[in-house]
Amino acid sequence: MPTILVTGGAGFIGSNFVRYWLRQHPSWEVVAFDKLTYAGNKSNLKDLEGQTNFTFVQGDICDREQIEPWVAKADIIVNFAAETHVDRSLLSSGEFVRTDVLGVHTIMECAHEHGTGLIVHISTDEVYGPILEASADEDAPLRPSSPYAASKAGGDLLALAYAKSFRIPVIITRCCNNFGPYQHPEKLIPLMITNALLDLPLPVYGDGKQVREWIFVEDHCSALDFLIENGTPSEIYNIGTGYEKQNIEVVRAILKLLGKPESLIRFVADRPAHDRRYSVNWEKLQKLGWQPKHDFDSALTQTVAWYRENEWWWRQIRDSEEFKRYYEANYAWRLK
Ligand code: NAD
Ligand code: TYD
Repeated sequence: MPTILVTGGAGFIGSNFVRYWLRQHPSWEVVAFDKLTYAGNKSNLKDLEGQTNFTFVQGDICDREQIEPWVAKADIIVNFAAETHVDRSLLSSGEFVRTDVLGVHTIMECAHEHGTGLIVHISTDEVYGPILEASADEDAPLRPSSPYAASKAGGDLLALAYAKSFRIPVIITRCCNNFGPYQHPEKLIPLMITNALLDLPLPVYGDGKQVREWIFVEDHCSALDFLIENGTPSEIYNIGTGYEKQNIEVVRAILKLLGKPESLIRFVADRPAHDRRYSVNWEKLQKLGWQPKHDFDSALTQTVAWYRENEWWWRQIRDSEEFKRYYEANYAWRLK
């Protein structure tokens, strides 16, 4: 049985990808390898327990002894493992550099030692920094604003250098903002949905007119599956949709779907160096033949319904001491 190693497989996109891959490729063995940081959650994979071609391994991509045997065994590796939240990187960034840079280095060193099949390294549109006009293509300069984005850019460059120096077959993908089931409630859309369900204020940074391009997580998974089949090693591929929205529009749409009043919105102190707009040019992927299947409005409706129906999932996170500490550090002063 061929094996796909999904690092960061217990996180938001990783767990959706594991499920997607098992559905599309039932003859594959899927190994989800994850450190289970505050963001990793075994409940994200609960429905897969007992499935014979699925294995979960708890481990750290920065620990060579832990990751090496899995890299050596894999036919394909998809690396989602990362520290991912901009606001947390503004509070403390050591773990971002460790996982998003040194973790990539460790995977590449193992691949260099043992040889591997394709490695898909998952990156982000945030490495391009703010794009005030038009859209960033794959050759746009990297101008990261946050420690998160800078660490991701570092990881990308290392992966590309290993691809060049040692002919490791690596594809880099840079996707826009994802949303959908199992996204940690620290991120914009789930934070706003769960705060609204709890009748708490919805903290909108600055004037709320920052623009993000949004993709339903299932479409990100289908783009990755498509690139595994059709992409060329050593290439970078942007993944986008064209669904660009101001944050305030997204927040208002969520309140409307939940039947909650706009009086819950609170404009609060802005994020430092807050990127005004992200927008990727994804013609390269489009020309290969990929298209997203979900439009923003219906995917948001589906996502809001999922959070409404799966309070068991987000309650355990929101009630944790860890989340309360983070909320206190990031929001208490803003909401005073
Ligand atoms: P997430 O925070 O939900 O998941 C990250 C996962 O990585 C968690 O399960 C965590 O436990 C695991 N992890 C962290 N450090 C690890 C380590 N040292 N070893 C092993 N596992 C570790 O993040 P996500 O939103 O699912 O993002 C996944 C990837 O996609 C990231 O690389 C991120 O940069 C990228 N990305 C995310 C978005 C988005 O909108 N969420 C957009 C573009 C790209
Ligand atoms: P986020 O989900 O953190 O993703 P990213 O910063 O990686 O794009 O935030 C999306 C947008 O929403 C971003 O412009 C910041 C804004 N935002 C708020 O206004 N309030 C919040 O409480 C959060 C978490 C985000």
